[in-house]
Amino acid sequence: MNVSLLASERVEFNDRAEFRDAVLAGLARSPRAIPAKFLYDARGSELFDAICELPEYYLTRTETGILRSCAAELARLAGPGCALVEFGSGSSVKTRLLLDAMPDLAAYVPIDISRQHLDATAAKLRRDYPWLRVEPVCADYMALSTLPADVNGAPRLGFFPGSTIGNLEPQDATSFLRRARTLLGDRGAMVLGVDLRKDPQRLHDAYNDSAGVTAAFTLNLLRRMNRELGATFDTARFAHDAFYDPDEGRIEIYFRSLAAQSVTVAGRVFNFAEGERVHTEYSYKYDDAGIAALAKSAGFTIDKTWTDPAHLFAVVYLEAAP
Ligand code: TRP
Repeated sequence: MNVSLLASERVEFNDRAEFRDAVLAGLARSPRAIPAKFLYDARGSELFDAICELPEYYLTRTETGILRSCAAELARLAGPGCALVEFGSGSSVKTRLLLDAMPDLAAYVPIDISRQHLDATAAKLRRDYPWLRVEPVCADYMALSTLPADVNGAPRLGFFPGSTIGNLEPQDATSFLRRARTLLGDRGAMVLGVDLRKDPQRLHDAYNDSAGVTAAFTLNLLRRMNRELGATFDTARFAHDAFYDPDEGRIEIYFRSLAAQSVTVAGRVFNFAEGERVHTEYSYKYDDAGIAALAKSAGFTIDKTWTDPAHLFAVVYLEAAP
């Protein structure tokens, strides 16, 4: 039998083994939790893009508005000839606002975990920005420690929009930013998008949209487990469950079992109690003091903060502290 695999098949094989191991470990744990990065398969990435368009989901619209109005100033702060490094680039929609304002960029390095998303996005950017060197990196940006060698000479500008920093627990947010600080170097800077604390109802609605897209995004993880791990989740018997915890200052996201039931995953049986939750994600909300503490703990200084008139969202320009 010929067991040699194409490189792409080997990657898929490894990815699947990683997914299986993480799910089995996460379901064996108490309380149960599955790492959020597995939400972003091709379908999950598509649903995520749809979330960003929802009327209740003010984050993307607000951040885009801020970026549009501060892009020229950002470009001035960063200076010419830098390499723009985006952590979790997705469709790179917001990036275009920066690219439009930075025609002298040395390179754009999008980092994303979804190969399909990354390749499709890189192709579109090369078409729309023929002058731009696009150097995609397919990786989990939380685990990445080097960048493509050909961007070595240029000062690096990190880009981490979408309040993705809020999806990390505070100590992980600090360690991610510290690693980013190392990756970006002593001349490095970082543009960070952060969702701010606000009226809890407003926050709740953003993660419980009336069209049910956020619910579909969460339940897509069950479909992915069914497809890739031979799991037997009945998606009609689980529900998306998201709420704001004001004490922790975070949205908590789970899928919840609507009945007592057992589910087989990769040959193992897991029993769920009625109402039992499996955690998928947090979305921490920051205030100005929290942002300042985070930046400081990771070796950055805050150069400038922009916000919208209603103070829903902040875009922060961080510089590597000497
Ligand atoms: N970082 C964004 C946020 O916390 C986007 C996001 C991540 C999200 N995971 C999500 C949105 C799950 C809805 C559901 O809002």
